[in-house]
Amino acid sequence: MKVGLLTGGGDCPGLNAVIRAVVQRIHNEGGSCIGLLEGWRGLVKGASMPLDVHETDGIIARGGTILGSSRTNPFKNPDTDVPAVKANFASMGLDALVAIGGDDTLGVAYRLHRDHGMPMVGVPKTIDNDLMVTDFTFGFDTAINIVVEAVDRLRTTTESHRRVMVVETMGRHAGWIACFSGIATAADYILVPEVPIDVDHVVEVLKRRRAEGKNYGIVLVSEGAEFPDQGSVTIEAETDAFGHVRLGGIGNALAKMIEDRTGYETRSVVLGHLQRGGPPSAYDRVLATRLGLAAAELVVKQRFGTMVALSGTKIIETTLAEGVAATKKLDMEYYRQAQTFFR
Ligand code: F6P
Repeated sequence: MKVGLLTGGGDCPGLNAVIRAVVQRIHNEGGSCIGLLEGWRGLVKGASMPLDVHETDGIIARGGTILGSSRTNPFKNPDTDVPAVKANFASMGLDALVAIGGDDTLGVAYRLHRDHGMPMVGVPKTIDNDLMVTDFTFGFDTAINIVVEAVDRLRTTTESHRRVMVVETMGRHAGWIACFSGIATAADYILVPEVPIDVDHVVEVLKRRRAEGKNYGIVLVSEGAEFPDQGSVTIEAETDAFGHVRLGGIGNALAKMIEDRTGYETRSVVLGHLQRGGPPSAYDRVLATRLGLAAAELVVKQRFGTMVALSGTKIIETTLAEGVAATKKLDMEYYRQAQTFFR
């Protein structure tokens, strides 16, 4: 049995832990693994690297992905790239492919399985935690811990200067990162894509807090949060191979509004790719390992077109179709609880 692995889309801490787990489990079965380089580009171009148990054993602690990643979409040029994917898969002698990615990468795996009968198993990953079926994705825990550490540091300088600090987080069109890190840092206000921004209310809360004696303020805003009837704030209009724009800039826009309306000196910080960097947390290493082992198990059982997921505390099998059906928005129960503190 020869199994290919690839990591596509935005990287996230924990990818290497999945690779290590799949390689070990397939090795135990007497099989071998190779890594396709830079996501689907590796299969389009036929670029790969060997993966063996000894070399992958220590990578659990490394962030990023040893395979590299890209946002290559073979269905962007289906007439040339999809046949290339199939030809390279065959010439590499692969029996199965484990695709580790978010909705874009797994969406490609789904179509290659559904329309071309290719043997695919998916492993969900993203710091955004916005994938269906799986309760939490690895990478998310590490990301929110990075945000929490950053906000704890920002708090001391913000307080010293009696300022307001607007902290912009990643998360695309789901508010998981902003909401969880906002709760964990006792932010004065949390803004998420699921709820239109009410600037009047943000200002009212910040002013009330000052009047009550808290002489600084922290606002967490997700990059995808929007003002009513306006689209997302973007860095550039250009889209990637999957049609996504680059989000960014809402924190700065909001900081200006807050300063204008309150008179409080206000600064903004975009945490950006810091949230995806560095070693995975212990929780993410364990989750990624469990998902990797379960995905390899599905390969061994030849259960293709499937995806592994976390349901409660259990690792379950689901289908790629279900996994990519929609974006998993923030569970509003978390947000409603957070709102208790900024009503
Ligand atoms: O999907 C993960 C993510 O980090 C998003 O939170 C963010 O909007 C995007 O990727 C950034 O992508 P890039 O690395 O291409 O700038």
